[in-house]
Amino acid sequence: MVLNEMTRPLSLALTDEHEMLLAAVRDFAQREIAPVAAEFDESGEFPLDTVRKMGEMGLMGIEMPEEYGGAGMDTLAHVLTMIEIAKADASHSTILSVNNSLYCNGILWFGTEAQKREWIAPVASGEQIGAYSLTEPMSGSDAGNMASRALLNEAGSHYIINGRKSWVTSAPFADRIVLFTMTAAHEKHRGITCFLIDTSRSGFSRGKTEPKLGIRASATSEIIFEDYACPVEHVLGGLGQGFKIAMTVLDAGRIGIAAQALGIAEAAYEAALVYAREREAFGAPIGSYQMIQQKIADMKTRIEAGRGLIYQAIIAKERALATGGRYTTEASMAKLFCSETAAFVTDEALQIHGGMGYSKELPIERYYRDARITRIYEGTSEIQRMVIARKELGLR
Ligand code: CAA
Repeated sequence: MVLNEMTRPLSLALTDEHEMLLAAVRDFAQREIAPVAAEFDESGEFPLDTVRKMGEMGLMGIEMPEEYGGAGMDTLAHVLTMIEIAKADASHSTILSVNNSLYCNGILWFGTEAQKREWIAPVASGEQIGAYSLTEPMSGSDAGNMASRALLNEAGSHYIINGRKSWVTSAPFADRIVLFTMTAAHEKHRGITCFLIDTSRSGFSRGKTEPKLGIRASATSEIIFEDYACPVEHVLGGLGQGFKIAMTVLDAGRIGIAAQALGIAEAAYEAALVYAREREAFGAPIGSYQMIQQKIADMKTRIEAGRGLIYQAIIAKERALATGGRYTTEASMAKLFCSETAAFVTDEALQIHGGMGYSKELPIERYYRDARITRIYEGTSEIQRMVIARKELGLR
């Protein structure tokens, strides 16, 4: 049999540094985040204090080189962190993921040296919050179809940006945003350019904050540009490169969302295990009945299969970063499978808990609500399937 890239045996080892990070993040997440998660979910308040603490621990720019204010670690470190933070609270992991994967990566991979120094350091260190803005009210999955515009002024010094973007994670608190907008509408996706936005400049404002089903402590809002004058030095990666940057960055982001989904699933699974051992019905713990055992077996098997896909995606990403090439399919498969797994596992965990699972007195219903977004953001499950199938069929 000929082994292709995807069927190569996995090899991924935790170093002492990973082990130390894992222990520190697990301790922090369970001690500082888990106890306040329900309260922040209920109020919908942005958890600024614990987000700042994640910054102090180096978690807000975990893969960024130390010279740019990051922790200088790798994708496995990012994944381990995402799983542990998501197990405690999915909202915190969303904020962390956008800061790391969607904001910092693009600037690291496509920025000039001056841009890296100016735009990564404050966000990777956690002093400031970063966001990523691609979606618009009338363009979500069809990301290349945008109505917002950036036009060069007569002096050639600034792009004047106008339009409305939607569903921007962390926008209500973001200091900096990587923005994708049209500079040449007739060129379709090749007319999209990426701009580095400073939210303190005039012409920028925030629209309505979304009242969400889950990840309620992660603030999401519209952002509005009204003659925002963006200096030409704040174009990232060159004119017309925006779509490629957006997609490249999303490949990395999707591994993070897969890890988030796995973390939510693990939290629900572990709670279901405890309940299945303790809860008695018909004179015995419910875990002694085959119908519950079937659920436990299926939940565990899917979680471990998801972990395998994430590890495969990490290997593919590290290989691509070292040698060029892409890991789009691996990232999409991990995201697709883990987000569908989170839906399955949180639903089964709720079923095992019965009425108690439906009550706000336990975190199960929160896991169930939080899991739902992982099948939608950073590309719906339908888009992941489209990406995987197009590659398999040789359509792209
Ligand atoms: N990496 C690099 N380049 C890529 C790429 C990738 N992963 N995917 C596509 N491209 C390139 C292609 O090579 C092609 O390049 P050329 O112009 O040189 O030919 C170009 O981009 C266009 O590609 P397609 O023809 O495949 O583009 P498409 O219009 O058919 O769309 C899509 C492809 C995969 C459906 C894409 O639109 C997509 O991913 N949509 C989903 C968008 C999404 O995930 N949105 C979520 C936003 S973030 C968020 O959720 C909010 C948040 O804050 C968390």
